[in-house]
Amino acid sequence: MKLKIYGENEPVLRLKAKPISKITKRHRVLVKDMLETMYHANGVGLAAPQVGVSERLIVIDVGDGPIVLFNPQIVAAEGQDRDVEGCLSIPGRSEYITRAAKVKATGINLDGKPVTVEGEGLLARALQHEIDHLDGILFIDYLKEQK
Ligand code: NI
Repeated sequence: MKLKIYGENEPVLRLKAKPISKITKRHRVLVKDMLETMYHANGVGLAAPQVGVSERLIVIDVGDGPIVLFNPQIVAAEGQDRDVEGCLSIPGRSEYITRAAKVKATGINLDGKPVTVEGEGLLARALQHEIDHLDGILFIDYLKEQK
């Protein structure tokens, strides 16, 4: 089921999302719906707060198949990369944002197993962008400090 994507002015996008202690049937349905919603919107990533759920869950697909991470964390980052970035919660807006060029993230997959995802380029950017959503941070927040 396609979900409503919350816009930048919705308070849920500014909350610190809660860690997920147990993956339930509800989460599996949520993942399926988030992927459907993301693909339908032609996005490469979506975080649970963007569909109104303040829990630490992200989905990403930069063209190599879906990545699902519960309680994701960036554990290593290197380099700098400046590129255009957008967000499904802020339609029609894209800006140059400087991010780490390469990151390593850890989390829990749909089977409840710990996983590590390493990425550069668009995948690194998507990991940083989506994990930011779990801490109530939007990409436009960086415009002030990077100007
Ligand atoms: Ni976003």
